[in-house]
Amino acid sequence: MHFRHLLKFSLIIVVFMPLVVAAATTPLHLDPQIMADGCGSCHVGFDFTNGGGSAKCITCHGPASGIPKSLISMGNQFKDVTRDFAKNYRHPVFGKAGNHSAREVLPETNPVAPRHVECADCHSPHYVSRDNPYAGLRGKKVGNFASPITKEYELCYLCHADSANLPVKSTNKRIEFNKENPSFHPVEAEGKNQAVVSLMRPYREKKTTANDVSTLKCADCHGSDDPNSPQGPHGSKYEGLLVDNYATGDGIQENAYAYGLCYRCHKRTSIMGNQSFPLHSRHIAGENNFKGGGTSCHTCHTSHGSPENRYLIRFNRNVVKENSEGKLKFVEKGTYSFHGECWLNCHGVDHNPKTY
Ligand code: HEC
Ligand code: HEC
Ligand code: HEC
Ligand code: HEC
Ligand code: HEC
Ligand code: HEC
Ligand code: HEC
Repeated sequence: MHFRHLLKFSLIIVVFMPLVVAAATTPLHLDPQIMADGCGSCHVGFDFTNGGGSAKCITCHGPASGIPKSLISMGNQFKDVTRDFAKNYRHPVFGKAGNHSAREVLPETNPVAPRHVECADCHSPHYVSRDNPYAGLRGKKVGNFASPITKEYELCYLCHADSANLPVKSTNKRIEFNKENPSFHPVEAEGKNQAVVSLMRPYREKKTTANDVSTLKCADCHGSDDPNSPQGPHGSKYEGLLVDNYATGDGIQENAYAYGLCYRCHKRTSIMGNQSFPLHSRHIAGENNFKGGGTSCHTCHTSHGSPENRYLIRFNRNVVKENSEGKLKFVEKGTYSFHGECWLNCHGVDHNPKTY
């Protein structure tokens, strides 16, 4: 280490010591019983201008061969996250280095700032603990104050909601999951529909007994395809960084795999048995003369929430067009009564309207 760095380093140790002493339970990375080499485990040859990058983290959270022997012998439980980050759909933490800064405030307010994400954006290195995965992270500022993050979605919203630099094809997830919407997958609060007839236990519209699950995390849909992988939305072999397969194109042969993600919680036989929408199977499996396959759930449903419609209805505009009168809408007839009408044109079939 250069003398200059050594000086800076000694200085920061003085500044940070109170943090170590004051903490009720010492954070994992600052615990000398866990990290034999102390601050130096991370801060030797560390670039303070860009948060050090993600590469440093995987000396210990990567393949066993890279982990310092001194740490293994201390009985630590290391989880290798690099296999998930090597998959096709992943958070790009090993992409462009240098865009992160310890001083940044998210969501981003500069529309031309490059998008970035690093391990340190989701895990605060000095505070991370086993009980609280979000320890040390702060959510969106309200007024002058940013509260500590306690829920997973607050972390995700730092980059997938009000960011001025959202990619064009991306949508604001805070608006989609807003609990004032007519429908939403129940992430921020319990859902509104009390007759989701396809739901399988333990999932329930409302929690009534101890084992019921009535709210979801982003992680119930986004994360590794491999249940034995470390937790977290690190990477997956499935498009959309999803835990299971979800075919979003049309002309798909319906089967348990095509819509595997939805069928984790919504009973396939209920959907295809038309227990709610009486025309589900006719659309999803395809008409007799449409042998190639049918319509994806994605053509009619959003996966997150809808500010416009109940039942997560949101037509995929790449496929669904205005009808011959120029109308494109879903109108329900009675609330949760399984009756409604559609005004649209799909694969040349005019709905002006079609009623069920
Ligand atoms: C697990 C690795 C790790 C350990 C151990 C660690 N740090 Fe850090 N430290 C980091 C990372 C990563 C950053 C950059 C954080 C960011 O950019 O969000 C950082 C940033 C800092 C900063 C700059 C903060 C700022 O606001 O600019 C100081 C000072 C610092 N660490 C001191 C220490 C001291 C003192 C210790 C030992 C008590 C220590 N660190 C232990 C990973 C570590
Ligand atoms: C020198 C080794 C080392 C480095 C470098 C390191 N860690 Fe760790 N990390 C540990 C140890 C040891 C633990 C405790 C593991 C355990 O649970 O036994 C840990 C725990 C964690 C946990 C909590 C995991 C759990 O099991 O609950 C997270 C998250 C984490 N580290 C992220 C990071 C990030 C992000 C970086 C880079 C900024 C980083 N680590 C760098 C050694 C390291
Ligand atoms: C610090 C910023 C940041 C945070 C926090 C963050 N992400 Fe991301 N995420 C990104 C970036 C950057 C990408 C790459 C695509 C882009 O620019 O949106 C991405 C991509 C994704 C994708 C894949 C999108 C696609 O087009 O396939 C999903 C899914 C995702 N994130 C979910 C989450 C979830 C769930 C959380 C919370 C647990 C989260 N993200 C937290 C920055 C972030
Ligand atoms: C019920 C399952 C489910 C839940 C819960 C869920 N997602 Fe998704 N998400 C999907 C599916 C399926 C896709 C890909 C197809 C699509 O866009 O509809 C997707 C796509 C995405 C994308 C990529 C598209 C874009 O707009 O950038 C991001 C980012 C994302 N989700 C973030 C989140 C965040 C953040 C949460 C939690 C606040 C969350 N998701 C909760 C199923 C889910
Ligand atoms: C987009 C946000 C995000 C990024 C980027 C990210 N993580 Fe995570 N990570 C999470 C979340 C969320 C969890 C799960 C926390 C929980 O619920 O226990 C997690 C869990 C973990 C765990 C514990 C796994 C387990 O099974 O207990 C480790 C270790 C970890 N991450 C390390 C890393 C490292 C190292 C990097 C960078 C190479 C990284 N993470 C990047 C969000 C992220
Ligand atoms: C052609 C459009 C269309 C397609 C394709 C479609 N749905 Fe639906 N779905 C609807 C409509 C319309 C409703 C609302 C019915 C009502 O209650 O009036 C609905 C209701 C639902 C409900 C709520 C009630 C229940 O059954 O629990 C679920 C869940 C659902 N759909 C899942 C799916 C899944 C999963 C797929 C793909 C395998 C799919 N849908 C494909 C139009 C569609
Ligand atoms: C992890 C479990 C889970 C997964 C995966 C899942 N859902 Fe759901 N879904 C739920 C729960 C719980 C509700 C009940 C919300 C409520 O009470 O309004 C629900 C409700 C719905 C509704 C009715 C919403 C309303 O307000 O009427 C539709 C439509 C739906 N899901 C479609 C889908 C589709 C399409 C997929 C696949 C992309 C999917 N779901 C994946 C758990 C899940």
